[in-house]
Amino acid sequence: MEVVIVPDAAAGGELIAEAMAALLRRKPDALLGVATGSTPVPIYDALAAKVRSGAVDASRARVCQLDEYVGLPGGHPESYRSVVLRQVVEPLGLSTESFMGPDGTAEDLLGACAAYDRALAAAGGVDIQLLGIGTDGHIGFNEPCSSLASRTRIKTLTEQTRVDNARFFDGDIDQVPHHVITQGIGTILEARHLVLLATGEGKAEAVAQTVEGPVAAVVPASALQLHPHATVVVDEAAASKL
Ligand code: GLP
Repeated sequence: MEVVIVPDAAAGGELIAEAMAALLRRKPDALLGVATGSTPVPIYDALAAKVRSGAVDASRARVCQLDEYVGLPGGHPESYRSVVLRQVVEPLGLSTESFMGPDGTAEDLLGACAAYDRALAAAGGVDIQLLGIGTDGHIGFNEPCSSLASRTRIKTLTEQTRVDNARFFDGDIDQVPHHVITQGIGTILEARHLVLLATGEGKAEAVAQTVEGPVAAVVPASALQLHPHATVVVDEAAASKL
């Protein structure tokens, strides 16, 4: 595992956007696995700026989601599909056909989970998977004690994660869904390159456990230690307990 400490979130965003741009120069139709939350926004802003300036051509890029809430109506502004369309697909000038994610509105949710794993494999696998980290060490929505071999499946959110994410739902925890579909840890580990960005002091403990703790299901992000090409980018605050 490679750990890179950057001065601030903007520098982390720039560094990772440049890695994505380099990938797209090498492989124009790369499959970019994207994450949601506040942390990756500087990455998307920096990558979109590179596209606008002509520094990279992303017109053939493909994008896939890491996870999704269950039960939010299609088009809900905080469904992860809507967020990724708004923050990544539209700014990069991509069409919705180049974008895929798990269907959190499906009647057959188990079928939707299996279908998403199959779709990722059929697409040739994820070339670079961006990850944030929850304050409890979760990646995607793999909450503590998720199996390290897990596949895309339905999970129940912890109270802590619903509290953390209530800010996206007018601060009202009752609006935060209880259930989600998330790529499993085993699924995530199949991506060719994993890049986790963590910023702010609130992530310092989770980062220390991820990087320096044992590989353990209780800290899902520690599974990155098992991957042959994992990069953890942290700002000074998130690195403060390393
Ligand atoms: C959610 C997402 C994760 C993300 C986490 C942290 O739980 N499912 O993918 O890493 O939030 O979000 P933030 O970056 O806003 O702290």
